[in-house]
Amino acid sequence: MDISHLLPDRVRNALDSYHEMLELALQARHHSVLTSLGPSALRGLLLKRGKQGVPTRFPAGHEAFLEWTYPEDHAELRQLYQRAKRGQWDGETDLAWNTHVDPLNPEVPLVPSKFIDFDFLDRRGIHLTAREKQEFLYSVVGWLLSQFLHGEQGALMAAAQVTEAVPLFDGKLFGATQVMDEARHVEVFHRYLDDKLGKLYQINDNLFVIIDALMRDSRWDMKFLGMQIMVEGLALGAFSTLYSLTEEPLLRSMLKMVIMDEARHVHYGVLALRDHLRHQLSEAERREREDWAFEVALLMRNRFMAYEVFEEWFEGRLSRADWRELIVTAPGMAEFRHVMFKRLVPNLREIGLLGPRIQPAYEQAGLMRYFGHASATQLSGEQLLEDLGGATITR
Ligand SMILES: [Fe+2]
Ligand SMILES: [Fe+2]
Repeated sequence: MDISHLLPDRVRNALDSYHEMLELALQARHHSVLTSLGPSALRGLLLKRGKQGVPTRFPAGHEAFLEWTYPEDHAELRQLYQRAKRGQWDGETDLAWNTHVDPLNPEVPLVPSKFIDFDFLDRRGIHLTAREKQEFLYSVVGWLLSQFLHGEQGALMAAAQVTEAVPLFDGKLFGATQVMDEARHVEVFHRYLDDKLGKLYQINDNLFVIIDALMRDSRWDMKFLGMQIMVEGLALGAFSTLYSLTEEPLLRSMLKMVIMDEARHVHYGVLALRDHLRHQLSEAERREREDWAFEVALLMRNRFMAYEVFEEWFEGRLSRADWRELIVTAPGMAEFRHVMFKRLVPNLREIGLLGPRIQPAYEQAGLMRYFGHASATQLSGEQLLEDLGGATITR
């Protein structure tokens, strides 16, 4: 018998979040995945380490790799490094910071109102005025951009770690450009949030879990897989969706510049991992990464529920289950998942982590339809943006 409706809201919500953590543990069908994500889930979901208002500190256990013969060991990466140097831009002078941004101006919406299905709220007795709808979308965009910012900080640290640890010399040179890119992304997202939106949300617990797990993992290729393929894929999906939906010109041009950088980062991930995963690992090690990537893909699809916005707006008026349904069925979020997996799945195929053994699991999750799309090595940043030209949120 379910008696949870008899409990006070606060208790019911706390129970719901423990239940989510338990679900995460049960979802991980493989012991190795649980070992790698479990402690991070405890710190992120239960102890809420990202929300304590103090800096997070932990030891990093990876091995640094230095090479005294300076080999040119990867021609494609060397080329990508040259491109990255030419692609540098200045977050201060290359964006029109004097643009006036009014997040509540209906003429220049941050995102279109159909981003969220407001009828869903109506059906549950929550009727927002036009102004409130706009304020709500302002919160959602502020939340999204805050998560981008926190993700970028994670990317900055992970890129620095990966630059130390990668055993390819050309990879180190490229890695240095990525460290600079991520610093610039932190700079521009923070400035936009601070100057233009006047909002900053705390890090989402699930994002904390992923960053915590990656920063601590001692294996360079796991950091790489997690950061360069999974998190960068998530970022590309999110940035691209917002880029194609927003009408705010400063946000749009900022996202465009960031997307061009991120496309190189994913490209780097595919180039560096392809040979390593296909040829240098044992089959058991490859399988472990294949399982891990699948679980993290599901985590990224199912877990970014913007509870921080829920708490701000609807705590006590809507159940967490209803909120999840609102977010999962939001047309803007559906577009985001579509773009993310269209980028991610072909990259997993390309690096050899979508073998016949795991394909039925992807099929069951509805993700095999992205199998045949172009991977990062087949797409430039420009092509990627072009590809977004026709993006809509009708899907
Ligand atoms: Fe970035
Ligand atoms: Fe990046």
